[in-house]
Amino acid sequence: MNTYKITVLPGDGIGPEVTRQAIKVLNEVSKVYGFNVEYVYADIGGIAIDKTGEPLPAETLELCRNSDAVLLGAVGGEKWDSLPLDKRPEAGLLAIRSGLGVFANFRPAKIFPPLKNASPLKDRVIGDGLDVLVLRELTGGIYFGERKRTVHMAEPAAYDTMIYKKSEIERIARLAFETARKRKNRVTSVDKANVLEVSRFWRETVTEVSKEYPDVELNHMYVDNAAMQLVINPNQFDVIVTGNMFGDILSDEASMITGSIGMLPSASLNSTGFGLYEPVHGSAPDIAGQNKANPLATILSVAMMLKYSFNLEKESEAIENAVLSVLQDGFVTRDLATDGSKVLGCEEMGDAVASRIK
Ligand code: IPM
Ligand code: MN
Repeated sequence: MNTYKITVLPGDGIGPEVTRQAIKVLNEVSKVYGFNVEYVYADIGGIAIDKTGEPLPAETLELCRNSDAVLLGAVGGEKWDSLPLDKRPEAGLLAIRSGLGVFANFRPAKIFPPLKNASPLKDRVIGDGLDVLVLRELTGGIYFGERKRTVHMAEPAAYDTMIYKKSEIERIARLAFETARKRKNRVTSVDKANVLEVSRFWRETVTEVSKEYPDVELNHMYVDNAAMQLVINPNQFDVIVTGNMFGDILSDEASMITGSIGMLPSASLNSTGFGLYEPVHGSAPDIAGQNKANPLATILSVAMMLKYSFNLEKESEAIENAVLSVLQDGFVTRDLATDGSKVLGCEEMGDAVASRIK
């Protein structure tokens, strides 16, 4: 029997409760389909700061590197908000992405049909549904460029730098085209090439790479327009490929179209296919520990892990089908509640999905 070793980083806020439900579901899948999972737990974010003074202890990164995949909950909270940027919980998240080299962040925004009513967009905009993949570059750009508090013309000032190397753009572009081939063969590259030099370079480089993929349709869009197009005609998109910060913003927007950011999973892969899996949402300290969080984004992140890291397609679909079945029966968590829906707690949602694995 195959054994997969997973490092679990529950993190802060609702992180621990949503990862607990995802593990519950994964354990059920492993029982039904006959494989073993070993879990190793480690700290990241605020809890790691409290225990060690560091948002990403070296030991955590080492454990991650020695496992087959990583499952992360969420990091951050008010308690650590006044720390300097490089000591905040979020710095741990950036450090682990960079330390594992997971440059390709897949954020699929799909509407589960029973949740069409939870989308803030009208039926005539959504049509039959939504299926957009945001592919966000995750280990470069303005998140990782030099930043500083400084003095400019005798006044206090600050700067961040957005820099992309050619190879960084090429590898994410290639992945976008490869991914589109398995979907609807369309790539939209999002930038701000009417203003930023780095965006002009991004656009040029993506266009160059596209010559290797003549069968895939490519268009370019400015990020402000893309933000608008997502709410007026989201189905024009198949794969959106973009840099770190634009991808952060657009993936939140895309997720909300699906009804709740609590539904959006993500996979971050390096060049060998090793992956870090995490929900797109944050640590939601306001509802932490109250059994109110939506665990579906984390549960669906485990589905992505099975497919992307372990090549377990059937097993991955079993999770997606179980989630669909729960939603079809009208069960939701409170973030998705509309008239007539039956609201479950985090724990009960985990049970409901686990019990439908077949
Ligand atoms: C995300 C989050 C992070 C990011 C934060 C918490 C640093 O918003 O994963 O989208 O901006 O990447
Ligand atoms: Mn974000």
